[in-house]
Amino acid sequence: MRILGIETSCDETSVAIVSEQDGQFVMEKNELASQVKIHAQYGGVVPEVAAREHASIVFALMEQGQIPHDGEGIDAVAVTAGPGLVPALRIGVELGKSLAWAWKKPLVAVNHLEGHIYSVWFEQLAPLFPAVCLLVSGGHTELIVMRGHGQYELLGMTRDDAAGEAFDKVAKLLGLPYPGGPEISRAALKGNPAAIDFPRPMMHSGDYDFSFSGLKTAVRVRRAEHPDDTVEDVAASFQQAAIDTLVAKTMKAVHQVQPASVILSGGVSANRLLRETLHGQLTDKAPEVSFHAPQLSLTGDNAAMIALAGLMKAKRGEFVDPLTLVADPNMRLA
Ligand code: KG4
Ligand code: ZN
Repeated sequence: MRILGIETSCDETSVAIVSEQDGQFVMEKNELASQVKIHAQYGGVVPEVAAREHASIVFALMEQGQIPHDGEGIDAVAVTAGPGLVPALRIGVELGKSLAWAWKKPLVAVNHLEGHIYSVWFEQLAPLFPAVCLLVSGGHTELIVMRGHGQYELLGMTRDDAAGEAFDKVAKLLGLPYPGGPEISRAALKGNPAAIDFPRPMMHSGDYDFSFSGLKTAVRVRRAEHPDDTVEDVAASFQQAAIDTLVAKTMKAVHQVQPASVILSGGVSANRLLRETLHGQLTDKAPEVSFHAPQLSLTGDNAAMIALAGLMKAKRGEFVDPLTLVADPNMRLA
């Protein structure tokens, strides 16, 4: 099977072709155009601007990726239908519907978060089930148990800001540009993670929920009271507090669920300290559990992961009607 993937949920426009050959997933094409520079001037993503950019570049990406105009050799079309920004999602959804309708090919609606989880299936070693998934992006922070392909149980989620959102907001407080995640982690390399003892909100709350808004406020208060702290020390101490909570809750889930594998994915999975800390804890405390994270080029939003998740759904015959599909900004996974 060969499938076309389309992703326009936020500020990356992407089209991809993924196929399955002898049980391996092959990323034949993954064309991507980032709008980060455009939104950086506003300090965050502006939905209408994102939509306009998606519309103006998506066909150039199709050309660049040499996607056949008549759909020849493509068996299905997969598109991100949610969650995300409605005007942005709509560009991809309408394109996916149009292509599926014109080509007379089946259409698959993919949940963006499911795409992030499936980004690790491009690696040589596939995760075994059950898998505990820590999904950390700009809009979501969720702990999920995956019992099989397409089977998700939500263990917990953030009650306020997402992890990536916290990185972005703290970066802003520190005068670092958008998106803040990579900036914070870069500054943190030169800082002392033990310089400031920031709170670890809800770390011992007994459930699997997260909260990052209090941590962000703690950084703001500390900034006001100690203006002489270096940006590097604040960045390193904040990052350590955020990662301690993410890793502690994931390990708690590992002890309860006793999974075969742990999957870390989403934009924040690019964070090296997070990867190393979680992997290290697993090696120490649950060596039988395998650790999976996407290659760095697939941690952010991309259509290859949407195509792969779509391919798995297509194999199960989970298609949608191109005449009626609508973008769902609050689409749930579990
Ligand atoms: O998954 P993603 O590309 O988009 C959404 O679906 O939201 O995630 C983007 C988020 C941003 O908040 C960005 O700051 C964060 O991922 N991020 C990072 C790092 N790289 C990107 N956060 C922490 N450390 C990083 N190295
Ligand atoms: Zn994402």
